[in-house]
Amino acid sequence: MANLLAHLECTRCGRVYDADVLQTLCPEDGGVLYARYDLERGRRELDRDTVAARASGMWRIPELMPVRDPAHIVSLGEGGTPLLAAPRLGQRLGFTNLLIKDEGLNPTGSFKARGLSAAVSRARELGVRAFTIPTAGNAGSALAAYGARAGIPVDVFMPADTPTLFQKEMRAYGAQVHLVDGLIDRAGALARAHAAETGAFDVSTLKEPYRCEGKKTMGYELATELDWALPDVIIYPTGGGTGIVGMWKAFAEMEALGWIGARRPRMVSVQAEGCAPITRAFAEGAERARPWEGAHTYASGIRVPSAVGDYLILRAVRESGGVAVAVPEDAIAEHARLITSDEGIFAAPEGGATLAALVQLRAAGWVGADERVVLFNTGTGLKYPLTPGEEPS
Ligand SMILES: Cc1ncc(COP(=O)(O)O)c(C=O)c1O
Repeated sequence: MANLLAHLECTRCGRVYDADVLQTLCPEDGGVLYARYDLERGRRELDRDTVAARASGMWRIPELMPVRDPAHIVSLGEGGTPLLAAPRLGQRLGFTNLLIKDEGLNPTGSFKARGLSAAVSRARELGVRAFTIPTAGNAGSALAAYGARAGIPVDVFMPADTPTLFQKEMRAYGAQVHLVDGLIDRAGALARAHAAETGAFDVSTLKEPYRCEGKKTMGYELATELDWALPDVIIYPTGGGTGIVGMWKAFAEMEALGWIGARRPRMVSVQAEGCAPITRAFAEGAERARPWEGAHTYASGIRVPSAVGDYLILRAVRESGGVAVAVPEDAIAEHARLITSDEGIFAAPEGGATLAALVQLRAAGWVGADERVVLFNTGTGLKYPLTPGEEPS
């Protein structure tokens, strides 16, 4: 069946743009552009069980991905990650139906592989010759790997205190690594300047429409893995927010396709107390999030003081009946260790933050013991340094 990509649409003003030329943010109001598909046709021609029977992986439903010609797909085997029952952890914490989606098994060790596989594939199809990105670590690793795979040069800008293994990995893939004195927002400004100067394409979170399309596949996978019955609660660590907004988009698409009904999981956005702009905006009832001053947390992937898609994250969390929470710094590493030792999943600190949030929400009576809860371990713990108090062996 043909690819169903129809056009791009601004998530603020609704203006429509051509999907077959390179686009970034809405030129009218700076809104994030979403890829839209001919879902009417999809409803007639795409059967959910036929699709679910295809080989697993992120490109399982190419009709609903933003690449016209499959020859342009740049893949390293991303997606199709396991959704694992967590019975020992569940028993310890009093949950009967706890699941962990282990995104650490993606190429380069995080869910960022999905977004960058999609973005690099589409950009290559549209003629891009060089990439740049600001990163907290994992997105840069993923872009460096997919850039290498596509034979397209990559310049990465990241905070100088990003764990050294990420830096080493990116250099090994052949990327030019620029260490920045500051946080990811400063890295973003430098990547922007580099793009303006050299013509490299800037694949910053949500500033181009296609990383989100890779992330949405997590939503499609969850639905197929759970036999089209979405969980009651999804807990996700939020920096730029593509995980939550990508899945939220997937659920809307699947409903339009007639694959699921109107019921949605309650989406929980997790940040660290040292950097919680979305949590603060949620509590204030605001539509946008003010930048967080003095951001700090060991979970470097969620050390993001401001997000271009803040309004999309907040919208998804609110529409779902979910909540945005912040967890204390010392709970992050502690709960990553629990996931690791109880379930054999070497969790990234961001994954640990989701468990810390679950414990907090349970104590507050927000989530019931028998609800089906999915935690996202968004990355492998292997690349992070030891935490204070952890003994080198
Ligand atoms: C392991 C990990 N989890 C979560 C996030 C946050 O993802 P997002 O920026 O899409 O919200 C990141 C981002 O770098 C990450 O590396």
